[in-house]
Amino acid sequence: MIKTAILGYGTVGSGVAQVLSCNRDLIAKRVGDTLEVKYILDLRDFPGDPFEDRIVHDIDTILEDPEISIVCETMGGNEPAYTFSRRALEAGKSVCTSNKELVANHGAELIRTAREHCCNYLFEASVGGGIPIIRPLNCALTAERVLEISGILNGTTNYILTKMEQEQTSFGAALSEAQRLGYAEKNPEADVEGHDACRKIAILTSLMAGRTVDFQEIHTEGISGIEPQDFAYAKKLHMTIKLLAVSREKEEGYQAYVAPCLLDKDQALAGVNDVFNAIFVHGNTLGESMFYGRGAGKLPTASAVVSDMVDCARHPGIHIGCLWEPEKQELTDYRDLEGRFFVRMKKSARLQAEKVFAPEREVWLEELPEEYGFVTSGMSEREFVKRQEQVPGLIKRIRIKD
Ligand code: HSE
Repeated sequence: MIKTAILGYGTVGSGVAQVLSCNRDLIAKRVGDTLEVKYILDLRDFPGDPFEDRIVHDIDTILEDPEISIVCETMGGNEPAYTFSRRALEAGKSVCTSNKELVANHGAELIRTAREHCCNYLFEASVGGGIPIIRPLNCALTAERVLEISGILNGTTNYILTKMEQEQTSFGAALSEAQRLGYAEKNPEADVEGHDACRKIAILTSLMAGRTVDFQEIHTEGISGIEPQDFAYAKKLHMTIKLLAVSREKEEGYQAYVAPCLLDKDQALAGVNDVFNAIFVHGNTLGESMFYGRGAGKLPTASAVVSDMVDCARHPGIHIGCLWEPEKQELTDYRDLEGRFFVRMKKSARLQAEKVFAPEREVWLEELPEEYGFVTSGMSEREFVKRQEQVPGLIKRIRIKD
C-alpha cells in the first residue's frame, strides 16, 4: 500500500480524496498497488466527513512519517505551500500540485530539489485544470521544437465573454452571473484582469524554453474593458473576442502576452465557449494540435492531480525528467509584437485616421452614429502607438489574432 497525504482540504483537495476513493480499484490495477490517503492537513476539522479521521493540523506529522511517499499540495498561494512542498521534497517525498501561483514562482527550483532527492514535483493540474497539457509537453511532444502555444486558459473569463456575445449583456451582468454560478470569485480580479492566465502561460512558456519566464514580465490585459459594442463590431467582421494567452518562439526570442483578441469565427479557438479551455500547440514537425476540455472545477482538476500521484507511484525513487531550469528566459519587448489591430474611432477623426492608418477595412454600426471601426494592416504595438498619437479620437483598440 502506498501512503499519501493531502495538504489543504478545500475544493481540489477534497476532490483528490474523492477521485482516489471512487477509482480506487482501477488506480490500484494501473499502479500495481493501492493509493491510500493516510493524512489530510488542514486548519479546520471536518466532523461527519468520510475522511475526518485522517485530518491533522501539524505538517510535521506528515513530513516525519517515513511511510508517506507522495504528498498532494492543494493549498494554493505561495506560503506555507512553498515551505511545505520544499520540505517534503527534501525528505524524498514526491509532491503533486494544482497550485499555479507556486509553480509559476518556484517551479524550476522545486523540480531541481526533487531531482536532487530522487523524487518528483509534478503539476499537471496547474494549467488547464483537467486538460492534459503538461505531461504531453514533457512526454508525447518531447521530439518537437514547440514554436507556439496559445489558448484560452481561463474558464471564468471565457464564460463571461461567451455570455456577453450570446446574450448581448454587459461585462458587469455577465460577471455577476459567473459569480452566482460559482465560476468567478467574490474578488474576480485575478481572473478578469488576466493574472491567472498570465501565470499559466508563464508555466507553459518556461516548459517551451526549458528556462524560467518571469510572469511579471508578461504583458497582461484583462477583459473588464470589453463592451457589448465590441462584440457587435466583431460580428460584422465574422469574428469573436477571446481572452488569449499567447507564447511564441521567434528568431528574435520568446514572446508572450495575455490580452483579449479578436479572432476569425473559423479559427478553432473561436468555437471554445463557456467555461471550457483549449490549448493550441504548434510544433516544428508535428504542425498543429489542440487540447480541449474543462479547465477548472473540483473533479476535473483533482483528476489531473491524481494522474500525477499515479505517475509518482509508478516511479518510486525515480525522478521523471522535466527540462525547466531556474535560469531566466528573457522575453522580447511586447511593443515589438507584430499584428493587426481593430480600432474604434470617433467619426470626426476619420480623415486623419485614413491618412495615418490606411485601414484595410472599415465597419459601421447603425446604433453608433458617432463612431466607426476599422482594421489596420500588420504593425508592431510600438508603431501602432506612434500612429495613434497622431489621431485624436481613438476610442479603443483590440489586437487581432491571425
Ligand atoms: N479561476 C480559474 C479559471 C480556475 O476560471 O479558469 C482554474 O485555474
